[in-house]
Amino acid sequence: MTRWGAGYVTDVTYTTGYYRQQSPSLLSLACVLNKIAGIDALDDAPLSYLELGCGLGYSAMVQAACNPAWQVTAVDFNPAHIAAARALAREARLANVRFVEADLASLAEDPQSAAIPVADVVSLHGVWTWVTDDVRRGIVRLLRAKVRTGGIVHVSYNALPAWQSALGMQRVLVEAGRRLATRSDRQGHAGLQFVQSLLSAEAGQVKSSPFVVGLLEGLKQATAPEYLAHEYMNEGWKPCFHMDVVADLAEAKLEWVGSSQPIENFRQLTLTDAQRALLDRFDEPVMWELIKDMCLARGLRQDVFARGVRRLTNAERNDALGDITLALTRLPEHFHYEASVPAGKATMEAKFYQPIVTALGEGPRRVRDLLAMPEVVGRRDNPAELIGLLVGTDQAVPVTPRPPAADEPGMRLNRVAAKRLATTETPISAVALASTRMGAALTVPAVELIVFGKVDAAAGREDLDAWAAELAPQPDEEERKRAREVLGRILEERRPVWRRWGLLDEAGTASRAG
Ligand SMILES: C[S@@+](CC[C@H](N)C(=O)[O-])C[C@H]1O[C@@H](n2cnc3c(N)ncnc32)[C@H](O)[C@@H]1O
Repeated sequence: MTRWGAGYVTDVTYTTGYYRQQSPSLLSLACVLNKIAGIDALDDAPLSYLELGCGLGYSAMVQAACNPAWQVTAVDFNPAHIAAARALAREARLANVRFVEADLASLAEDPQSAAIPVADVVSLHGVWTWVTDDVRRGIVRLLRAKVRTGGIVHVSYNALPAWQSALGMQRVLVEAGRRLATRSDRQGHAGLQFVQSLLSAEAGQVKSSPFVVGLLEGLKQATAPEYLAHEYMNEGWKPCFHMDVVADLAEAKLEWVGSSQPIENFRQLTLTDAQRALLDRFDEPVMWELIKDMCLARGLRQDVFARGVRRLTNAERNDALGDITLALTRLPEHFHYEASVPAGKATMEAKFYQPIVTALGEGPRRVRDLLAMPEVVGRRDNPAELIGLLVGTDQAVPVTPRPPAADEPGMRLNRVAAKRLATTETPISAVALASTRMGAALTVPAVELIVFGKVDAAAGREDLDAWAAELAPQPDEEERKRAREVLGRILEERRPVWRRWGLLDEAGTASRAG
């Protein structure tokens, strides 16, 4: 630990990640679904976006590359994060993103805050419950100074009571890790192994909690030690209740409006009939959310707040939803009409959804136009349900289609990301392909970014055998065969989507203009 880190991990950098829940279009959607006016995030209007605790800055860069008219500012106190982010942004020649090295505990009072623009949208992903009370208070003062009237704030955090049963697990992970290793990524790894040994030894406080067992199960899959360090090893780590976050952010004149996970804005998709009946006994959102947090097993909340809530009538809300343009993130033949949701299974009735998915297969469409198609008109007139399910299952996203342009920043960023990030040495949490043509990003697995980079660089001269040998470097025939299958499947299922999203030109390679 360094002194300037004030108990936050600073000796290893974080993992690279893009999280769609931070997108202004999804944050605005959360507002509108809850009958609150959103912001103009789906237009070419200039928008000021501020990310606090940006890590390696990849998410901020994706937002900037998708939306050249936006002004993106991203802050982190770790100079190693800021230096890496600036280098990547420079290489991708992104002109509308700026990275600032500053401590959130004191930035509001620091003269350099004068250079931080007032923001329409602020996002804090993975920060709030990982830093100390002092930093949280500094964040609130900064939000009070920098959120525009009518602006939106996204805050993700580890929620209580879900994390309650994991308090012991985190404490043991930290204490054991610190005694068994020195660098914090090694501490995280050693601490996790120790907790796993406790599970194997049937320690009651580990095995009796389905939440902890689920966490440990998830952490078995090739978890980057850097993630473990930043997730578990910070001195300020402290999950909290939604109502306490609401009370803290009220100091910045922020009011809670909903969730940036679209599904969570629908009670019928989140809670059972009996659980919903309990909500009806109260008329305050904080009580509804407390009950919801008692019912759900999910540990991470993705809250959306607004400064100056403007309520919409049903007609105004439906009008705003009708204006949204959607694009599919997959081919129509791979669309899933059934999805697991917290309340069970959601079925998208084929009679209504199939014509919509078919139409979206031809290209982006406005929700208003989809609902006016003769095949669906009169069957249902609820744009909220349509958007909630399509976007909530990540099978479609709100987009701003634009004509092709030379030298699109999204293509530049994807090319640099594929070269610099998609390597075995770079710990990755989640990546994306940025589309300036759609004003939005496709969330993809790391292997898809790797293959995208290869297709792009090959300029039509594809050699699947050579690529399979790179993906599976050991001379193992079975491994190579599997790698070739994965490559073949990505090319067949994903390349057409890349084309539709304007990531590849007609010849199958990214435009090299500029
Ligand atoms: C868990 S990481 C999340 C990073 C990024 N938002 C993401 O989701 O990938 C938390 C980030 O907050 C930064 N951070 C922690 N304390 C800070 C402080 N006092 N001031 C500025 N940044 C801070 C860390 O350096 C780290 O990059």
